Amino acid sequence: MLLISFSIQIKTTAKEGMWIPATLKAHEKDMKAEGLEIPIDKIYNENGTGLNNAVVLFGRGCTGEIISTKGLVLTNHHCGYGSVQGFSNTENDYFANGFWAKNMKEELPCKGLTVTFIRRMENVTDKVLAGIGDTIRDSIRDTLIAKRISAIEKDYMKSTGMDASIKPYFKGNQYWIAITQTYKDIRLVGFPPNGIGAFGGDVENWMWPRHTGDFSMFRVYAGQDNSPADYAATNKPYNAESFFHINVSGYKEGDFTMVYGFPGTTEEYISSYALKQVYSIADPISIACRTRKLDVWSKHMDLSRETFLKYTSKRAGVANGWKKWQGEVAGLKVNDVMGKKQAFEKSFQAWAVADKAADYAADLLPQMRTAAESMDQLLTEDLYNREAAFGVELISQGAALENVIKCFRLNLSGDALTDTLKKVMKGMEWFSKNYDAATDKDVFISLMTVYFTKNAYSLPPYFKEQYLAHGQDIINWAYDIYNTTLLASQEKLNTFAENAIPADSTKILKDPAWQLYNALNILRKGKIVAALNDYNARMKYLNRLYMKAQMEKNKTKVFYPDANLTLRVSYGQVKGLKPDGPAKYSYQTTLGEVVALDDSTSDIFKVPKKLKELYRTRDYGRWGVNGTMPVAFLASNHTSGGNSGSPVLNSKGELIGTNFDRAFEGTMSDYYFDPNRCRNISVDIRYTLFIIDKFGGAGWLIDEMDIAGGSQKAKVKSKK
Ligand code: ARG
Ligand code: GLU
Repeated sequence: MLLISFSIQIKTTAKEGMWIPATLKAHEKDMKAEGLEIPIDKIYNENGTGLNNAVVLFGRGCTGEIISTKGLVLTNHHCGYGSVQGFSNTENDYFANGFWAKNMKEELPCKGLTVTFIRRMENVTDKVLAGIGDTIRDSIRDTLIAKRISAIEKDYMKSTGMDASIKPYFKGNQYWIAITQTYKDIRLVGFPPNGIGAFGGDVENWMWPRHTGDFSMFRVYAGQDNSPADYAATNKPYNAESFFHINVSGYKEGDFTMVYGFPGTTEEYISSYALKQVYSIADPISIACRTRKLDVWSKHMDLSRETFLKYTSKRAGVANGWKKWQGEVAGLKVNDVMGKKQAFEKSFQAWAVADKAADYAADLLPQMRTAAESMDQLLTEDLYNREAAFGVELISQGAALENVIKCFRLNLSGDALTDTLKKVMKGMEWFSKNYDAATDKDVFISLMTVYFTKNAYSLPPYFKEQYLAHGQDIINWAYDIYNTTLLASQEKLNTFAENAIPADSTKILKDPAWQLYNALNILRKGKIVAALNDYNARMKYLNRLYMKAQMEKNKTKVFYPDANLTLRVSYGQVKGLKPDGPAKYSYQTTLGEVVALDDSTSDIFKVPKKLKELYRTRDYGRWGVNGTMPVAFLASNHTSGGNSGSPVLNSKGELIGTNFDRAFEGTMSDYYFDPNRCRNISVDIRYTLFIIDKFGGAGWLIDEMDIAGGSQKAKVKSKK
């Protein structure tokens, strides 16, 4: 037993952790020992001058950093990708050609995109939980808590004039409020072509060495008083008091680094029973289904540029999870994380049984085990439903036909019916614009083949009937579906709306897309959803107490809360990766290595001509280092999905890079952080500036920034 708690001590001293900025003071000594050279209250404070005011939640799941007084935001290429898709078509192909505004007037407003600032965070646990016992039934407890949360949020909104939102931390053992401001007029400023910003594509994704210039730039616009406002041509660039100063002097292995951003989800304190569900159910099934879907998509995308443009963003999303999970399974295995969890649980159990004060904890693990094991089968089925059946776009989009049916229920006729239907059809335009029925038909064929073999005993009755009715021939069945459904094209949908009479509701009820969707829905509602909800509620309760107990068991350890898409700071070092002994990898890649990978026949390894020319002439301006151009670097900061676009800072809090990925060997860090294998990958800020300046010809943006170090002296900037 001694051995186990010893190994846990070691884990604590490694640079694992994603810390709440408002609690960083507790780490000041350690951070200073590691190399930090600025006071903690520069990183975070509540008077408006802290760096927390320069880190933003970009969209719904990425991070961005403010890099000028005029609201310029730097984030990842893959974080801007979805917005750029809105402007891209075969004539205006920003993915192929890039986009660089020449002045503010040319910046493109991005509908729906938001940027959120975190002004302040406060621990409100006492306010939320006062008088609410740990072991009251969750149904009662949750209602009480929800009421309090909404009352407290309202109070804070009133007193601050800003938004306020409370989230649970440590599985509901703590609550923190964030005072935030969300800006809604965000415009595209710069976007390198895919040959730079997505270089290496899914082949290099989640891997080191890496050669991607994964960055893009936007600008936050504000209303007259610098507050959030809806888009208006008269809005002004957001006037940022706090922004990141850039340093281009570089770094060396071992240098202190911090990552400041919004990691989304981690489960570091998970039980072995729940981890087993990830490791041997969720990951393998999802990987297998997505392999099939990606094979089909890629085949069709290679054949047509139009299909490529429709699916490129979707493919990146699907492939991203697919590859990460492969790294995760491998990393969990190599580290024997299951074994480590089991060993910890043994010691936990011994403590819980022996320690009187831990009475409540003695039964937690056995209960978790029973709950988890009784869910394994249903979870398996549901994964096939989600990844194989709903993985077909036509089936998931069947949900939209539900809205069409609702129109008919309003008992309208004539123009009233047509107009209402047209509105609903309009809502499907985005789907249609990015949909290719021939591609999806092949996905259907491929995924239904797995669905029918692996999930044979739990198929929705309608699926079975249809399969039999089509002579057990999935291809024949698919042909029928895609010929009949209204979802096959926007024209079909619009024509239907145009000519609809009240009796046409039956046409929708007979549409195969709706039928497939509906059959799955009935099955899930009847058998799965309620059981899953019960299970999740049960686990939420047990996990809350298990977390509390883990913290009580080890009172000297400083715990960090699992990621929950709130602002965090991780710190570590610039560090190479050589998990298998001999120095195999360096900690930095260069433009020379990018050009060496150039392949004009490949969609993802084709280096833009202009970039090759800049390389040939070594025309790096002030951004190069003795004739080389750094591209990406590795460091040992604990990051997760959501940290994309996060500022990577040096010991003085200056910007040296933009985080965009993790190395394959360490993607299991969402469950277990191994300091030998877990690395975050960043674009070197010098590469970003070089691309903006020399490749994009957008020097006017460089003039806005505050840049120190490098071969030329930094300009002195007047701060407005
Ligand atoms: N793996 C990175 C992240 O999780 C980058 C994803 C985008 N790149 C890609 N090739 N799909 O977001
Ligand atoms: N690319 C990830 C993102 O979108 C960050 C990489 C990671 O998961 O570490 O947030």
